[in-house]
Amino acid sequence: MNSQLDSGLKPLVVGCWQIDDRSWKAIPEAKLERAIDTYLTLGSKGFDTADIYGRSEQVLGRLLKGRDTIVLTKAVFFSGIPTPNQIRSKIENSLRTLQRDRLDYVQVHWHNPQLDFSSTFALLNEWVEQGKIVKLGVTNFDTPMLEKALQMAPIATHQVQYSLIDRRVEASMQALCLKHNIRLLAYGPLAGGFLSDKFRGVKAPQNAADHARSFYYSNMIRTHGGWSAVLDLLETLAQIAQKYEKTIAQVALNWVSQQQGVEAVISGLTLDRQQIQHNVEAFTWSLESSDVQQLSERSSTLFQQTGDVYSYER
Ligand SMILES: NC(=O)c1ccc[n+]([C@@H]2O[C@H](COP(=O)([O-])OP(=O)(O)OC[C@H]3O[C@@H](n4cnc5c(N)ncnc54)[C@H](OP(=O)(O)O)[C@@H]3O)[C@@H](O)[C@H]2O)c1
Repeated sequence: MNSQLDSGLKPLVVGCWQIDDRSWKAIPEAKLERAIDTYLTLGSKGFDTADIYGRSEQVLGRLLKGRDTIVLTKAVFFSGIPTPNQIRSKIENSLRTLQRDRLDYVQVHWHNPQLDFSSTFALLNEWVEQGKIVKLGVTNFDTPMLEKALQMAPIATHQVQYSLIDRRVEASMQALCLKHNIRLLAYGPLAGGFLSDKFRGVKAPQNAADHARSFYYSNMIRTHGGWSAVLDLLETLAQIAQKYEKTIAQVALNWVSQQQGVEAVISGLTLDRQQIQHNVEAFTWSLESSDVQQLSERSSTLFQQTGDVYSYER
């Protein structure tokens, strides 16, 4: 059922936080099925989920059964050091809900860096050795945490927020990942959709409580430079988009895909067929290096980057 890894993740991994009905409005399953079919038909095979994304694993288990796909899930440890039983039940639960006999990727989110994660990695490594976990990854680790984790287990991927607005990964994480051949999986490439034609010229975006834009990315934007900086960036993106006859979102996605060490871009599931098509097609061409450079320079002028990966979210 599971196909060859790594190459199958390109170009676009579908982020499935949007299926979490505890955080967001529940999407009817027929609509989810239609959207997932569209992604698959257009060539996306990678799906990113988590043990904490509500019914997301369950829905993917049902809808992806028997399809040639790669599922990346997460094992999220918010507080305390988990017991061996707690770790076993997390992994067994993901295997059951995803309806798989092995997990393609398990990405560890470890919230409290003061707590020692060595015993947790040692146990997860046993699952890798038994073939029940194919690859171990991490998400939102800062540089000292990743340096430590590298001594405990082979780490294949690191899922980090990476966009023209949030480039904290470039401070020291990108170099560490390149050195150890850890592939970056970039989430939030559109800042929840703010980096798109929809928000060009919008003076004050409306708060949408049922969308990640409303808190996760709004808070990120406030921290990095504010909404007026986003409006300025959207104008630069629009000029470049016009040159290639693409959308702003496509240019923003393509820029992320061209950054060093990025294996795949994770963009969140949308039900809008045209947006799906645009997103998948955002990787069938390449921005010229001068345009990549211009966007990077504009982004550096407009936004401050504060600290390491996940520095203020923790
Ligand atoms: N590891 C972590 O801590 C962490 C944190 C956040 C996210 N993630 C993962 O990363 C995934 C991606 O993050 P994200 O969803 O925040 O990423 P994103 O790609 O920046 O935002 C996705 C949202 O943008 C809108 N959108 C999609 N395509 C568009 C287009 N072409 N034009 C305009 N708007 C578009 C959609 O909302 P509408 O459908 O409403 O337009 C969609 O829900 C998540 O689903 C999750 O799997 C992980």
